[in-house]
Amino acid sequence: MVLKMMSFPHWFALALALVAIAVLGVLFGVTWIENYQARHLKTDSAEIPVVSDSKRAAVIYFSRSGNTALAARHLAKQFDARLVELQAAEYELGVAGLTNALKDANALKKRPQALPDIVPSAIDLSSYDIVYLGSPIWLYSPAPPIWTFIESNRFDGKDVVLFNTYNSNYSQEWIESFRSKVMSRGARSFLHLPIRRGRMTQQKTPDEMLEAIDTHWMPVIERP
Ligand SMILES: Cc1cc2nc3c(=O)[nH]c(=O)nc-3n(C[C@H](O)[C@H](O)[C@H](O)COP(=O)(O)O)c2cc1C
Repeated sequence: MVLKMMSFPHWFALALALVAIAVLGVLFGVTWIENYQARHLKTDSAEIPVVSDSKRAAVIYFSRSGNTALAARHLAKQFDARLVELQAAEYELGVAGLTNALKDANALKKRPQALPDIVPSAIDLSSYDIVYLGSPIWLYSPAPPIWTFIESNRFDGKDVVLFNTYNSNYSQEWIESFRSKVMSRGARSFLHLPIRRGRMTQQKTPDEMLEAIDTHWMPVIERP
């Protein structure tokens, strides 16, 4: 009866409200999963021994919910490398951080110079032969903080390895742009190592991810 009495503006308002509820539901759902992963992966990190400050390789990474961090710690341990986490306050866990992440990843497509602040932004890389750069994929591209890092540093004579964690898809076009930028900033070589974790409800466990890294990445990485 009530439904029959509803006019077009009422239907429209109801449809808008339902869309808003669905969007909020997705944002809160993703945030819940990310918080769970970050807590879980943090516990794992306690079991990983502190790596030494090697003079040959550096692993520099940004990670929002801990998955790229897990890969970064694993690489640093394998190669006895210096490990540096890039912090980007705008993207901390939570709905606000997730919204900023989506907004900025989208803005980067239209304005490549629209880059976020990171800490640290510049690092003395002069003593390293190999620089590993880690980032999640956001909207098919490496996330904005790692673009800020390559924009703020030079890689003269270095072998640069970009490693990414992602759920299901990335665009090779963005990897090529990243490669061009790194090479134009002096790199000697560039290698891309992605790891697909699977869609939200059926993702690799941390152990499965490390196993995949050992199987797929280690054979193609030259040890320093
Ligand atoms: C804002 C945002 C955008 C994302 N876009 C993509 C995407 O385009 N393709 C994809 O496969 N995964 C995407 N993801 C999933 C992340 O790449 C994936 O969960 C990654 O492993 C997270 O790494 P982290 O835990 O180190 O932050 C996105 C995640 C966020 C937060």
